[in-house]
Amino acid sequence: MTDSSSSLGQRQAPEFDSSVPQTARIWNYWLGGKDYFPVDRAVGDQILEAFPAIVENARASRAFLVRAVRYLAGEAGIRQFLDIGTGLPTANNTHQVAQAVAPECRIVYVDNDPLVLAHARALLTSSPEGATAYLDADLRDPDTILQAAAETLDFSQPVAIMLMGILGHIADDDEARSIVKRLVGAVPSGSYLTMNDGTDTSQEVVEAARIWNQSAKPPYHLRSPERIARFFDGLELVEPGVVSPPRWRPEPSPSGLPAGIDSFCGVARKP
Ligand SMILES: C[S@@+](CC[C@H](N)C(=O)[O-])C[C@H]1O[C@@H](n2cnc3c(N)ncnc32)[C@H](O)[C@@H]1O
Repeated sequence: MTDSSSSLGQRQAPEFDSSVPQTARIWNYWLGGKDYFPVDRAVGDQILEAFPAIVENARASRAFLVRAVRYLAGEAGIRQFLDIGTGLPTANNTHQVAQAVAPECRIVYVDNDPLVLAHARALLTSSPEGATAYLDADLRDPDTILQAAAETLDFSQPVAIMLMGILGHIADDDEARSIVKRLVGAVPSGSYLTMNDGTDTSQEVVEAARIWNQSAKPPYHLRSPERIARFFDGLELVEPGVVSPPRWRPEPSPSGLPAGIDSFCGVARKP
């Protein structure tokens, strides 16, 4: 942790409910981490049985995050990131990827899970030239997020807003769109929206979501690729547009375009 790092909006003492499976912890289990409880593993395994591709899905989604952040800090020249729905720290967190390209990058992480808050120190390892901060807040309250993030980010300069695997937790399209609109409205021209979310593109993933919503919190709502694409309305999509994560600017491979997974993603610039 460096002097330039801080943790904002911290609760007094984070309390975990280890009896109810939680999204951040189940995601960590599928990503091969170790920050989960037996209840998370039990639901994670139940979903794995119905939808064996879930592990590949989780890892391909994370790999998209890495390629998108490299693109944003590299080609797009972005130096500020607002990563909402951060998840538990893992390999290649947003600040590590961005600061490997440009050490002066400033990153604000946001999540509302108490275990993520408890592990936030691992996200506050900024390079001395840049800064990282953690905000314990809810996506449903974008005004609070924007106000607290302004302690670390300069909202007169471009910001990359990252919504990776989180909008599915907001069931209503109108509510989700109004949150995105509020966030995008707060950043200047030349900023970016990067998002990725689960799609209802196979029977197996629909069954996985059903199992999830029976037992885990918060509920997750799959959308069609078209409904996901609509979150980018009014923005300029970066090539190749809204696609399945393995197909977003993949590393060149002799075997051609990789197979898709049951999620869709995109990166778009605010004109
Ligand atoms: C599926 S994980 C994705 C983690 C990470 N972004 C990634 O792509 O690997 C979703 C994350 O969103 C967080 N989350 C869900 N609903 C939220 C809300 N309303 N406000 C803030 N965070 C939320 C969860 O705690 C979890 O860490």
